[in-house]
Amino acid sequence: MINELYKQRLSAKSVIRELSEYATARGAEIGYENVFDYSLGNPSVPCVDGYTKAVIHLHETLSPMELHGYSPSLGNTKVRGIVADSLKRRFGIPYETKHIFMTSGAAGAIAHAVRLVTKPGDDVLTFAPFFPEYLPYINDSGARLSVVPADTKDFQPNLDVFESMMTPNVQAVLINSPNNPSGVVYSEETLERLASILRKKQTEYGHDIFLISDEPYREIVFDGKEAPYPSRYYDNTISCYSFSKSLSLPGERIGYIAVNPKATDADILAVICGQISRGIGHNCPSSTAQLAVAEVIDEVSDISVYERNRNILYDELVRLGFTVVKPDGTFYILPRALEEDSIAFCNKAKNYDLILVPADNFGCPGYFRMAYCIDTEKVERSLEALRRFVQTEYSTR
Ligand SMILES: Cc1ncc(COP(=O)(O)O)c(C=O)c1O
Repeated sequence: MINELYKQRLSAKSVIRELSEYATARGAEIGYENVFDYSLGNPSVPCVDGYTKAVIHLHETLSPMELHGYSPSLGNTKVRGIVADSLKRRFGIPYETKHIFMTSGAAGAIAHAVRLVTKPGDDVLTFAPFFPEYLPYINDSGARLSVVPADTKDFQPNLDVFESMMTPNVQAVLINSPNNPSGVVYSEETLERLASILRKKQTEYGHDIFLISDEPYREIVFDGKEAPYPSRYYDNTISCYSFSKSLSLPGERIGYIAVNPKATDADILAVICGQISRGIGHNCPSSTAQLAVAEVIDEVSDISVYERNRNILYDELVRLGFTVVKPDGTFYILPRALEEDSIAFCNKAKNYDLILVPADNFGCPGYFRMAYCIDTEKVERSLEALRRFVQTEYSTR
């Protein structure tokens, strides 16, 4: 018999994917260059040259087994060492090979991390606005995701409400900074206070509480700044990383888990991940992709395009009277819609071939997300449509 749970999901498919499919269909009618598609976080900037060169070189020099064979279940040992060294160099945390587990992107990393530190029936807390795929990532493991409401003033986590929502049944807290969909980077002050609440609650409840830190946008930060690294603030941290965004490689499905060496049972957590893979099928990411990312471990695609797009959009949105927090990074922005019903707002925008995503599923009703990982030329052309949309539909404001 077909599993009803997944069958029912067919009627509640990802809003982002549906809008992206709409944009593609509309593009077939009027030319995709005329559709201002801000739906999907699919990086437009090419991957770094070094990655392409590494793949070619690997194909030219390695044996078929080295290239296409299964990697060890925790990932290629040499690659894990290269990842550990890079993190140690960058963040001053003494990671070793044994703390790294290679995954199929951040999705694979979170799927392992949640099973590593929770059992069915446990609670996991996250903060709105949040990536909607967290719901299936967490709930399908048997744990239950609860969401701390957003503080729309600046989209930093609302730690007072968080503290009041903590119970002994919370075994893990899931954070994402730089954040999809707000683009906000969690400040040092936020991370320090979050860590101090978690430490206090660990003592009070008498058990570990793990921080699962989802970091696919770690390097996409603007104005020459860097995102504070959550693992530096709290020992029981499992960092979930992906090369999808920083190297523009989402289709390669490659990332990793990095266990803080001071976490409880740090020496065996990555090994346990190898056992989790056996049950969930997210096992042994592509050997070629592992070897190739290791060649460009400290490189990042040219993110100046995203910063430029952020500046253009932010300035225009402010000019048009939107309430909007300026993103520090990623390639998302989360303005407040010009009417309470953000779904109605985004539906009207479609008439101007503007594809905007209502943020209701991100835990932020009344707001909408724009993924501006598109060509700057298109962002510039979209401004006229944005102005027309606002002036025609909301001119009495
Ligand atoms: C916040 C966040 N977490 C996780 C993911 C999944 O990333 P990956 O492609 O690495 O699986 C995404 C993808 O957009 C994301 O935005």
